[in-house]
Amino acid sequence: MNDEDNKIIMGGSDDGFGDDLEQINLPAEILSGQSISTEMIFSTANEMLDEMLNIKELMLYYSAAIQEIRTKLAILNKEYEVRYQRNPIHSIQSRLKSQVSIMQKLEKKGLLISRENIEENLYDIAGVRVICSYEDDIYRMAEALVKQEDIELVQTKDYIANPKPNGYRSLHLIVKVPVYFEEGMKKVFAEIQIRTVAMDFWASLEHQMKYKKKIADPEHIREQLKQCSDMITLTDRYMMKIRKEMDGIEPEKSEVEQLLEKLKRFGIQLPEE
Ligand code: GTP
Ligand code: MG
Repeated sequence: MNDEDNKIIMGGSDDGFGDDLEQINLPAEILSGQSISTEMIFSTANEMLDEMLNIKELMLYYSAAIQEIRTKLAILNKEYEVRYQRNPIHSIQSRLKSQVSIMQKLEKKGLLISRENIEENLYDIAGVRVICSYEDDIYRMAEALVKQEDIELVQTKDYIANPKPNGYRSLHLIVKVPVYFEEGMKKVFAEIQIRTVAMDFWASLEHQMKYKKKIADPEHIREQLKQCSDMITLTDRYMMKIRKEMDGIEPEKSEVEQLLEKLKRFGIQLPEE
């Protein structure tokens, strides 16, 4: 989820097509500046527009994939709330990669703009970021998601077990999700990043570095960020330890107390004496 990372578009997309027409596979006559017939201009424009419409339609699949994943996560979170009175997911963000970014990424990979190239080579057009409360929730949610029959796990990058040298930590999953439309089912790639609130806080600060043109002492900033990442790691682990300790010391409840608690989970509160 690079480029538009921290200005995440909630399931939307921008229409930046017009600026990038030169990246489309144009006939040699046009590229070499030779004189070209009106028919050729029309047929080239037609082909280009068809390809663009094709890609626009493809985006529907990715935005549906985002919705599918968000729903699955919301259900898991709810299940946890009902069972354990606790939300493992703090928040979910999602974004559809902008069409300009798609083109830039294809160009970087030396690929022409086509629906096929997008579908086969870009895994992060649908991006979902899951912010969890505790580190163990990250793995719990990832496991619960990928064990669902319709989700195909393609790749896992565990930057928590193996942080990046700069201190970046998160669990990244590339999955394939089935999306159903009138014309049939299609499995599309999606990137899911799962991290704690603290890891997310760190990543957004670190991300800003890439956009700041004038940093007086970037090396010093890098060092501090790395130190901060180490501190955050310790804090995350400490918080998890405290939560586990609290989970473990729940006092024994009497039968009446257990009954009252169950009623409370149904929203029924008995009047106090
Ligand atoms: P991209 O081609 O940029 O997608 O990278 P990749 O294919 O090597 O994938 P990777 O899983 O390493 O990173 C994918 C995404 O994770 C990025 O687009 C960022 O959203 C996030 N990410 C990875 N590394 C960093 C980092 O060092 N700092 C921050 N802030 N985000 C990162
Ligand atoms: Mg990416």
